[in-house]
Amino acid sequence: MPVAARIEEVRTLVAELSEASPTAHVFMQKMVKLLHERMLKYNWVGFYMLELGAQPPMLLLDAFEGAMTPHTRIPLNQGICGAAASSGQTVIVDDVSKDPRYLACSLETKSEIVVPVFVHGKVVGELDIDSHFPAAFTPEDQDIIQYCAMLVGKKLEKSGQ
Ligand code: SME
Repeated sequence: MPVAARIEEVRTLVAELSEASPTAHVFMQKMVKLLHERMLKYNWVGFYMLELGAQPPMLLLDAFEGAMTPHTRIPLNQGICGAAASSGQTVIVDDVSKDPRYLACSLETKSEIVVPVFVHGKVVGELDIDSHFPAAFTPEDQDIIQYCAMLVGKKLEKSGQ
């Protein structure tokens, strides 16, 4: 299946999953599985969520698919993950070996995208995807991943956890 068709299929499937999931957390678990299975270059897919009330603020590993990562808690001033959460901006790194912020999860990872999740305009977490391929995340990938993160934010606004 061509990549564009696969992305459109995933867009439809995640929208259906959002409707069918009783909670945001169930939606997140099903979404990481779907993205990991269908998008062949997405080799690690997971959410980090901001720990409520923690000082200093910390990102905690949540639903994920792929190998276990040593980074289960990430401060906001560390990693690509910390950069995305603290800036509220999508961060794409085409070659992780050249980015001094990068916290290694797997030796095979070559590129990464991290997209913040917003609830009522505030960052509450993020969707992090690693690829074994360099520069895996095209503008079309960015678009579908931002769509996925937006749906999680909307689901959290509607149904809470
Ligand atoms: N690479 C991330 C850490 C999380 S693992 O990729 C799962 C970072 O630099 O923040």
